[in-house]
Amino acid sequence: MSRSKSESNIDFKMMAFFFKIRDFFRNPLEKVSKMNIKEGDNILEYGCGSGSFTIPLAKLVGSSGRIYAADIHPLSSVKVREKAKKNNISNIETIQTDCNTKLKEKTVDEVILIDVLHDLDMYKQNLKEFHRVLKEKGNLWVDDHHYEPEEIKKKIQETNYFKFVKSVDSLHLFTKTTLS
Ligand SMILES: C[S@@+](CC[C@H](N)C(=O)[O-])C[C@H]1O[C@@H](n2cnc3c(N)ncnc32)[C@H](O)[C@@H]1O
Repeated sequence: MSRSKSESNIDFKMMAFFFKIRDFFRNPLEKVSKMNIKEGDNILEYGCGSGSFTIPLAKLVGSSGRIYAADIHPLSSVKVREKAKKNNISNIETIQTDCNTKLKEKTVDEVILIDVLHDLDMYKQNLKEFHRVLKEKGNLWVDDHHYEPEEIKKKIQETNYFKFVKSVDSLHLFTKTTLS
């Protein structure tokens, strides 16, 4: 936890409040429904914040799937666990990290980054970690309104860990490459 800094507690709480309003006007389920998530999928939601997308994702994968909800901020786990309890959901595991998820290699079907890429100070190391935990041909979904689509594609493909597949509205899909 040494290289990237997380926000103060008050900033995190303000962000969570702002996202409550955002989610009131745009149901997070709308976005996650476009990702072709399947029942039983294992998903790493990286930079999950207060869990706006975590709960609908957990419902989509069902009891045979799992959501690894990772964030650098310690309050994220608290918020996500609260929401999971309220919704009677038990397939979410929270992880506090700025990069290393400690997940086993090739165990995850999808990595999801919503409004997070711009925040990642060492995104190349993060991409390496996502490549490590994803199964062969696993998917990386990226949505970030701070960047133009071309900038997102450039950043993600810079490392050769991922290849662009398609865009679905503001979501950009990449697939894990096989490194020789
Ligand atoms: C703008 S918020 C988006 C939260 C959530 N994805 C959403 O859209 O509701 C960005 C989140 O990324 C987290 N974050 C920033 N840098 C990070 C890092 N290096 N590793 C993990 N999480 C990070 C922040 O703590 C924050 O919760």
